[in-house]
Amino acid sequence: MYAANWKMNMSAGDAADFADKAKAWIARHHELQNYIVICPSFPFILPLAIELGNSGIITGAQNCSEFPHGAYTGQVSAKQLADVGAMFCIVGHNECRSLLHESSDAIGKKVSLLFEHAINPIVCVGETAFEFEQHQTLTILEQQLAPIIKAIKSAQSIPHEFIIAYEPVWAIGTGKTPEPQTLENVFSWILSHMQSKAPSIQKIRILYGGSVDSLNAKSFKHIKGLGGFLIGGASLDFQKFKNIVGLD
Ligand code: PGA
Repeated sequence: MYAANWKMNMSAGDAADFADKAKAWIARHHELQNYIVICPSFPFILPLAIELGNSGIITGAQNCSEFPHGAYTGQVSAKQLADVGAMFCIVGHNECRSLLHESSDAIGKKVSLLFEHAINPIVCVGETAFEFEQHQTLTILEQQLAPIIKAIKSAQSIPHEFIIAYEPVWAIGTGKTPEPQTLENVFSWILSHMQSKAPSIQKIRILYGGSVDSLNAKSFKHIKGLGGFLIGGASLDFQKFKNIVGLD
């Protein structure tokens, strides 16, 4: 899976242009259908979902409220996202954890609401540079995953495939990436942790995110346990995005 996180970038015109090109591209690559997810800013979700139709490219969101509805000015609910055609939603992105002070508990609530509305969460986890240096990665991931596991356990229904994006904070937008062996160890830990704590999940897909480009994507593709990428900066340019996928 290749998920594009456009963050607070792209105009309505840029988004439409990207969608046009992406549709023509996927028409030549049926094998990519349902493996490409584009997460624009809220105002572009509906037009993008309409434009992409049933092309096989999926529209997602970058966040949702931890509340179901009500007096929460500026927030967007999981239900509203479902209404406008979002099928995936990034939650727990480090920029939301650090800039908006979102807690892991709030992120667990978002996951529950997304489950209720049949939106597939893309749960982001990752440690800071300091935590990495202190060898605390797995402790941090365990803390971040605890409310997610709780949400899974109390859910009425969960998606067939549960998606976790491992995004070390120190790799986001910095040009730095972890060593392949580090990634393999982290992926294997996430997989066995989730399998033992949330056995109701049938399938877990682990994405890597943080300064993904065509070069490192190529070298990471064979890492055991990797199920795709969450791509920020390089997803804003359609050619760069295509180069990461590796199909012209
Ligand atoms: P980046 O962002 O690819 O620009 O590092 C990834 C992300 O924040 O999801």
